[in-house]
Amino acid sequence: MGVTKYDELGIFLFFSFFFLISWDAAAFTPADNYLIDCGSSSNTTINGRTFLSDSSLPSSVTVTTPKLVFLNASSSSSSSPLYRTARVLPGSSSYSFEIRTPGRHFVRLHFFPFSAASGSYNLTSAAFSVSTQDVPLLDNYQPSTSPAMKEFSLNITRTTLVLSFVPSSSGSNGIAFVNALEVVSVPDSLIADEAQTVSPKGSYTGLSELPLETAYRINMGGPMVDPSNDTLSRTWIPDQSFLLDQKLSRSVAYTGAVKYMQGGATRDTAPDAVYGTCTELATSSSTANAQFNVTWQFDVDPSSSYLVRMHFCDIVSKAAYDLLFNVYVGTSFAAQDLDLSTRTIGSLATAYYMDFVTGATDPSGKLSVSIGPSAQTNSMPDGILNGLEIMRMNSSGSVSVVTPDGQKAKLGVVVGAVLGAVAAAVIAVVLVLWMRRKKRTSKSHSKIWLPFSINGTTTTHSVGSRVSNGTVATTGPNGSFGYQFSFAVVQEATNNFDENWVIGVGGFGKVYKGVMRDDTQVAVKRGNPKSQQGINEFRTEIDLLSRLRHRHLVSLIGYCDERNEMILVYEYMEKGTLKSHLYGSNFPNLTWKQRLEVCIGAARGLHYLHTGSTKAVIHRDVKSANILLDENLMAKVADFGLSKTGPELDQTHVSTAVKGSFGYLDPEYFRRQQLTEKSDVYSFGVVLLEVLCARPVIDPTLAREMVNLAEWAMKWQMRGELDQIVDSRLRGNIQTESLRKYGETVEKCLADYGVDRPSMGDVLWNLEYALQLQQAESDASEVNSINSIPGLSLQVQNMVAVVESPADRGQGSVVGSSDTDDLSEVSMSRVFSQLIKSEGR
Ligand SMILES: *[C@@H]1O[C@H](CO)[C@@H](O)[C@H](O)[C@H]1NC(C)=O
Ligand SMILES: *[C@@H]1O[C@H](CO)[C@@H](O)[C@H](O)[C@H]1NC(C)=O
Repeated sequence: MGVTKYDELGIFLFFSFFFLISWDAAAFTPADNYLIDCGSSSNTTINGRTFLSDSSLPSSVTVTTPKLVFLNASSSSSSSPLYRTARVLPGSSSYSFEIRTPGRHFVRLHFFPFSAASGSYNLTSAAFSVSTQDVPLLDNYQPSTSPAMKEFSLNITRTTLVLSFVPSSSGSNGIAFVNALEVVSVPDSLIADEAQTVSPKGSYTGLSELPLETAYRINMGGPMVDPSNDTLSRTWIPDQSFLLDQKLSRSVAYTGAVKYMQGGATRDTAPDAVYGTCTELATSSSTANAQFNVTWQFDVDPSSSYLVRMHFCDIVSKAAYDLLFNVYVGTSFAAQDLDLSTRTIGSLATAYYMDFVTGATDPSGKLSVSIGPSAQTNSMPDGILNGLEIMRMNSSGSVSVVTPDGQKAKLGVVVGAVLGAVAAAVIAVVLVLWMRRKKRTSKSHSKIWLPFSINGTTTTHSVGSRVSNGTVATTGPNGSFGYQFSFAVVQEATNNFDENWVIGVGGFGKVYKGVMRDDTQVAVKRGNPKSQQGINEFRTEIDLLSRLRHRHLVSLIGYCDERNEMILVYEYMEKGTLKSHLYGSNFPNLTWKQRLEVCIGAARGLHYLHTGSTKAVIHRDVKSANILLDENLMAKVADFGLSKTGPELDQTHVSTAVKGSFGYLDPEYFRRQQLTEKSDVYSFGVVLLEVLCARPVIDPTLAREMVNLAEWAMKWQMRGELDQIVDSRLRGNIQTESLRKYGETVEKCLADYGVDRPSMGDVLWNLEYALQLQQAESDASEVNSINSIPGLSLQVQNMVAVVESPADRGQGSVVGSSDTDDLSEVSMSRVFSQLIKSEGR
């Protein structure tokens, strides 16, 4: 809406190029890719991957062993050629690999103790340990009699990886062996830094550094997926043998194409073959009351923590938002009333995954994962799981390093800090969450439409889960049916989408000015039907704006989805974007007071988004081009296409693709791809700077240190000289104290870590304070001039009434009396309690 994206598009595209690439990248090409067929005299190619012979190793691989011994199996006793030869390592020895690119790597060790055709080595009685310089991989390992592959996922930061093989000192024949080795880069994004803990609930951070050992990798409801069908050459095995009761479930295979959402799972997360099949609860309409769980059970090490990754893809539902189920790890909820559609913005057959960390496992050494029906009565009992990975969080034990010259260099112990860290993180987070915990209202939450009827009467309707099923309300004077407009009406209002009526162009499509039959002015956003992103944004925007109403949010008047159109009709904002009032157009200059008013209005809108409904809504694209001004210069936040419903109450963030506009993007969100309300606070901090300095947030034409407004302005703020860079039109008109407060607020908003940033409520309060400081020093004539601006005087008076002794005020009491007018749908009790809080001081 407005000139939302048009003028920034060029810069945005230029700078955001690399975000998009990283998402849509074709096949991942590993920087390090060592494949060795140990003991073989020739190279072996399997599924297009060539394993080098031990005798033709590149110089980047060094082997130390007192004696070279190659062995051949007596017969081709194993299906894979990799298991027909082995290298015997009599005594301590090592393989060293040059690491070209640090980061996550798969280290795979293949073992099969075949009986050798000749020689005096008995592989079956070998027992040995394997470690890197930093991580113990296998301790006193005795290979079983069938081929085994041990896979580790290690974040390698060194330039050389040394894999040391040390025969156990007792009870073994003093040898180690290995049949094949793989050291292969994987995308760092494969393992995010943070996961939820299940019992107690909380969040665990630090995963990206942690060594992991693959314990199980399962393809639910489908066949074995071998390395040739996986971009990272992983093997996924079927789930049947892990099901406690096979009768309770059925396998489902999908024939269509699995979709991948930007920022969500990719084919590197798990292949189509995994997402395209699932195990589903064996319920049917005739067993609508069925109450049972489907459970998979795995043997695990009871003293280890595990990372459990669940892969989902709703290939069973006919319509979005129909499937609702519970997911358990052990007997604890991993996800309650999981609605995959809300995670994939209403798109079915879309890959999605969730990570959980288990604490100490059951002493029985069993780890179970279950899916079961939701207790919500409005859903059919059902549930699915498409894939599952269980990874041991490898942490403690001793490492021995055999240096490339054959010396045993060092024997160290890596202390298992993991459990301690889990416990500490869990306790902290659980306390916070426990205090915040509320019951989730109901599934239908996202389906409630609170329409604003064009003829002024407000009615409430509940519509089906899909927009196109929307029920029809009253016929208004514009020939519209409540909030749903016919295409003809929109066509008429926009003079048949007259190009001369275009008021903005954005990623979604064009925005037209429109006039309805009753002379109501509207803004009509017409989406490009070919854009999948557009469809998602269209849905998100309808979903959010139909639920959220606030004086400082742009109102949605209706929509039209006839003839595959995606059209949104909003209230018309006469004065356009905040941005256009700051620079690059001919609007008259805004005074400091007007700018503060605008910021306060926008902050109120965002504060409402974050706190006004059960689940916080994160705007995700806060920028001056998305703050619109009405004829009285009242600010309203617009463009919710990228918005996300915030974390579930039992989570602290939403994992998501980095989206947003360059220059406004929260660096923490960018680093960790985890979205919280504090990302909006960061972006809003950048907007505050834009308001103060009246220049673009990224201006490549400036000197290098000035290009990025946030960086540049923070330098001045740190030196206490922010006044040096304010918009020259404001010079001399800002009270020193007001600017100081404003600068401090910006600085807090731009803190590196979200936790250090204030809430939107605090920002709002601080801005009101800055306005007071400005007012306090103003002379009477200026006050009179404010009163002469229609529409502003009431607000100003209200704010004067609320903020009396700002320095004493605690957090959160941000709701002034003017706010009661702002809210038409917010819980009134919340408002009242806050009013009481501020009065009770
Ligand atoms: C694996 O890929 C082959 C072709 O490369 C295909 O025929 C087969 O169906 C795939 N298997 C699975 C489980 O998708
Ligand atoms: C499913 O398993 C969970 C956890 O063990 C349990 O609390 C729940 O009652 C089970 N649900 C059904 C329907 O058996």
